[in-house]
Amino acid sequence: MTRSTEQLSPALHAYLVAHSSPVDAVLAALAEETAQRFPEDQGLQIGPEQGTFMTLLTRLSGARHGIEVGTFTGYSSICIAQGLPADGHLICCDVSAEWTSVARAYWDKAGVADRVELQLGPAIGTLRALPADAAFDIAFIDADKTGYTGYWDEIVPRIRPGGIILVDNTFSHARVIDAAERSETVQAIRDFNDHAVADYRVELVMLPIGDGLTLARRK
Ligand SMILES: C[S@@+](CC[C@H](N)C(=O)[O-])C[C@H]1O[C@@H](n2cnc3c(N)ncnc32)[C@H](O)[C@@H]1O
Repeated sequence: MTRSTEQLSPALHAYLVAHSSPVDAVLAALAEETAQRFPEDQGLQIGPEQGTFMTLLTRLSGARHGIEVGTFTGYSSICIAQGLPADGHLICCDVSAEWTSVARAYWDKAGVADRVELQLGPAIGTLRALPADAAFDIAFIDADKTGYTGYWDEIVPRIRPGGIILVDNTFSHARVIDAAERSETVQAIRDFNDHAVADYRVELVMLPIGDGLTLARRK
């Protein structure tokens, strides 16, 4: 019994991954191709246990309609799409045609291309252009950190009651609690975390998965 979350050593992390459902071959190949083609940027991708968690959560929640802000080469979008039913739908927002060209190829390989709609362009414009009464069951925010609060404010009203919002990197690699850390990105995450926890429309928990994953449920 313990009253706090264990720190994960690399060895315990490896054990956790080995004792979670195995990552499918398409996702493993995508992680490998991303590392080869974009070695400087491979860290943008979520980790395997976070992806498995997101697939399970999507499936457990019975979500049919999802939206993702920040798609990169497609790893997290495939994890969400694999948890949707065959007639589900996922809108993916990103600004990079190059990175999302890899995502498109892997949506085909993963057999989810018919469920995914890519919207290329600044996500805030894509979100604002959605009907005010659009109803999503699940959302994942993982793009430019200074945009988080704006994305949240557009997404929360478009999540159906009981629906889920996941927000990535809410620890900002522990820099959120470093008083000496003054970067715009870290301050944006601190501001976002304060904004989200005070939002009466949701209940939420910050989970120590990856770089901090906030899980919110629309009341
Ligand atoms: C951390 S990566 C997303 C990683 C992805 N979720 C995954 O697990 O593979 C952030 C992505 O946000 C995109 N991005 C950055 N600024 C954006 C903006 N203003 N609107 C939409 N996408 C943006 C980048 O092009 C990049 O692909």
